[in-house]
Amino acid sequence: MSLRDTLSFKGSDATQLLRDQHTVTVEISEAFLANNIEINQILSHVDYTINVHFRLEDEILFPALSPYLQQYLEFLEPIRIITGEHISIRSLYTSLNRARSFEAEDPVATREERYAGAEKLARIMLQHIFKEENGIFPMADKYIPDMERKRIQSSMDEMLANFRARYESEHRDSKQP
Ligand SMILES: [Fe+2]
Ligand SMILES: [Fe+2]
Repeated sequence: MSLRDTLSFKGSDATQLLRDQHTVTVEISEAFLANNIEINQILSHVDYTINVHFRLEDEILFPALSPYLQQYLEFLEPIRIITGEHISIRSLYTSLNRARSFEAEDPVATREERYAGAEKLARIMLQHIFKEENGIFPMADKYIPDMERKRIQSSMDEMLANFRARYESEHRDSKQP
């Protein structure tokens, strides 16, 4: 069964944009695990997710949620767990990408090992999304007051355009000889 069938991906103004991005990541991760897309497609999607989606969560949603979480639950463990996962996904991706870039000098990074690393990334992304959709996002929808949710939504729209433009320009630069 697909993860898409088990989650609604529906939330408040504060989380909907991120939930929409989750549906794309789930689709791409599951397609890769089912051998329907190439390794470079999943890796470039993970790269984009780290640089755009994670930043929207780390820089907008979680800082906005933090005072309310502290107020109602008196602990920030849910945010710490999720940001910790962002760090491990980023470092797994970086190590895999390094293996790709220096393939000629690095006989250890075989094609099979890179593939296994990409599979691991796809699985971790699915687990991470499952955790967010069932844990921290419902908390954000519940604890953040209505007016604040609307403010989060508009700053998220604005920063999405910003992060995306920056990502695309860096991506273009790195492709130039
Ligand atoms: Fe996340
Ligand atoms: Fe997410």
